[in-house]
Amino acid sequence: MRNASEDTITDAVLARLADAPSPRVRAVSEALVRHLHAFLREVRPTQAEWAEGIAFLTRTGQTCTDTRQEFILLSDTLGASMLVDAINHPLPGGATETTVLGPFYVEGPPEHALGDDISGGRPGEPLIVEGTVRRPDGTPAVGAWVDTWHSDAEGFYDVQLGDEVPELNLRARFRTDEQGRFWFRSIVPAFYPIPHDGPVGAMLEAQGRHPYRPAHVHFMIGAAGCETLVTHVFLAGDPYLESDVVFGVKDGLVRALERQERGTTPGGHPADIPCALLRYDFALAPERETTR
Ligand code: BEZ
Ligand code: FE
Repeated sequence: MRNASEDTITDAVLARLADAPSPRVRAVSEALVRHLHAFLREVRPTQAEWAEGIAFLTRTGQTCTDTRQEFILLSDTLGASMLVDAINHPLPGGATETTVLGPFYVEGPPEHALGDDISGGRPGEPLIVEGTVRRPDGTPAVGAWVDTWHSDAEGFYDVQLGDEVPELNLRARFRTDEQGRFWFRSIVPAFYPIPHDGPVGAMLEAQGRHPYRPAHVHFMIGAAGCETLVTHVFLAGDPYLESDVVFGVKDGLVRALERQERGTTPGGHPADIPCALLRYDFALAPERETTR
């Protein structure tokens, strides 16, 4: 093929894909070429704009380290992560809704006993979090693992603070009891900006957008025969619920903080001081076969 023009280049590239050994690679490559070319025909970039686009993607890659994934942040802020989530989690009736994982999950979080204080002594308003986990048939998920992590009262995760906080905190793994219950003590998290000192932050600024996420507590919950649930519980009343920079908020995931006096929580757990109370009952979806 020679003499490629604006009118012929797309078909020429598509024809070159015909022999891809994998039908899936062929289909994905064809869609990529069609949509990329359509984007360029719509935008009609100058050579300088094309070079700036390449430089932006280059900076995005160069910003990635073992602990920072700028491409996922780009996907999150362009709504791509939540779109992939929506495509992959059409809600089977009754299961808890899913949302983005985010960059602050740590594999193998510290194991804690139910009721432990996971704040590591960090300052903030005392909080009790309690709830249950149910299997798809509605029975309690006994011995389910419940990973949780959240920001501190100033909107920072432990992993962002380096040596200021010597140990992992505000994160833990629990196991549900024989009634499928979990509970723990911590501090009330705050809204926070996603990392915005790199190319994604520059993009947000150029787009006239703020970098904030509403306050939330992350959960990743798993049990045998169930799909692992990745979600958050958002705090009602947060100023950023309507404009989460990563589009992760769903109505069913928002809960009001309750006021707990010294005594016993509605879930039957001891509150030794007055504190805030966050309650959420999770329902797991059945495990799915992944085909393709
Ligand atoms: C988070 O909630 O931890 C998060 C999610 C997406 C991007 C940045 C942070
Ligand atoms: Fe978060």
